[in-house]
Amino acid sequence: MKSLTIPLLTSLPVLTNAALRFGCETLTVQRLDPVVEPGNAPSAHVHQIVGGNAFNATVDPSVDVGERATCTTCLYSEDFSNYWTAVLYFRARNGTFKRVKQYANAPSLHDGQKAGMTIYYTQESFGSNGKQKIMSFPPGFRMTVGSPTYTSQNDVSSRSPGLRYTCLDTVLTRGRETYHLPNEPCPAGIMAIHHFPACWDGKNLDSPDHQSHMYNTGKGGFQPAGPCPASHPVRMPQVAYETMWDTTEFNDKSLWPEDGSQPFVWSTGDTKGYSTHADYLFGWKGDSLQRAMDADCFFRECGEDWKGSDKPGVRVLKIQSAEEKSACQIPITVNEEIDGWLDALPGQKELW
Ligand SMILES: *[C@@H]1O[C@H](CO)[C@@H](O)[C@H](O)[C@H]1NC(C)=O
Ligand SMILES: *[C@@H]1O[C@H](CO)[C@@H](O)[C@H](O)[C@H]1NC(C)=O
Repeated sequence: MKSLTIPLLTSLPVLTNAALRFGCETLTVQRLDPVVEPGNAPSAHVHQIVGGNAFNATVDPSVDVGERATCTTCLYSEDFSNYWTAVLYFRARNGTFKRVKQYANAPSLHDGQKAGMTIYYTQESFGSNGKQKIMSFPPGFRMTVGSPTYTSQNDVSSRSPGLRYTCLDTVLTRGRETYHLPNEPCPAGIMAIHHFPACWDGKNLDSPDHQSHMYNTGKGGFQPAGPCPASHPVRMPQVAYETMWDTTEFNDKSLWPEDGSQPFVWSTGDTKGYSTHADYLFGWKGDSLQRAMDADCFFRECGEDWKGSDKPGVRVLKIQSAEEKSACQIPITVNEEIDGWLDALPGQKELW
């Protein structure tokens, strides 16, 4: 009699604590948005973008960015993804605008880079996959979180609870998160935080609103997420961004509006902060992100240069130097003034 074939259990997920945290230098600051406004140069508002150099006004989902790009501004040299947010401006009493500079996160998070963003890929919770397989995003995948159309705290907290601000006393201040831009001067600037949803419908690389192919079970901060629903059953990495805005040159309250309101405004024209949003365009080369999420490395243990313990699952990703990251740039295709004192926010002339 023929014996029954018992399915191999080699793919049964094991408990891992794979979590990536790394810095990416600024790639470009321009009015481009290949996810929400493909083909538009300029797009509606200014973005700051980090990651691989396959980025331009039109990146079709059929393109495997991980194969197309030749350099990246990120620590992990196989990560050619693009990560972007709107840009913060200061509005002076005379009505002119100045772009707020970005600065690097704490040195241990950024390995010597000058500005840009800190990127996280965590699992079900900050340090555990909860014994579920965490699937890499597929080539062509993209998503957004938040929306320029959100105008209230309820819009954000009910739909995207992972969008927050921290008023920084020092570069290391964490917690004390608000849904609105801080109302008082922040001694070390403002950290903008964007947590993406992590449950995928398992089918679509994108959706018309760039969000409904994903489902958020995160609760804000780095709290453990709830289980994925049947409509979106596939757990993907929990992606999050931290962006440090150096508001310190504008902290003198005599420069602030006479009515006592805060002076910072997103490049969308939003003075409250509820329109905060972020875009993600997957571009890890080959199976590099899957390898990392299957490994058992936490933060810098994942890099090939990790000098600590030899436990299994460490040193799974190639890294590059701060100089190599900074050398990766793309051409300016939207020629307009975005710095200096501007009479209007680029693309937003009608708002003031
Ligand atoms: C823009 O980038 C995409 C993806 O890298 C590429 O397929 C396309 O040819 C580029 N377009 C231009 C005009 O460079
Ligand atoms: C507007 O105010 C800013 C900040 O105080 C100042 O630097 C700039 O020169 C002013 N511009 C004009 C046209 O007065």
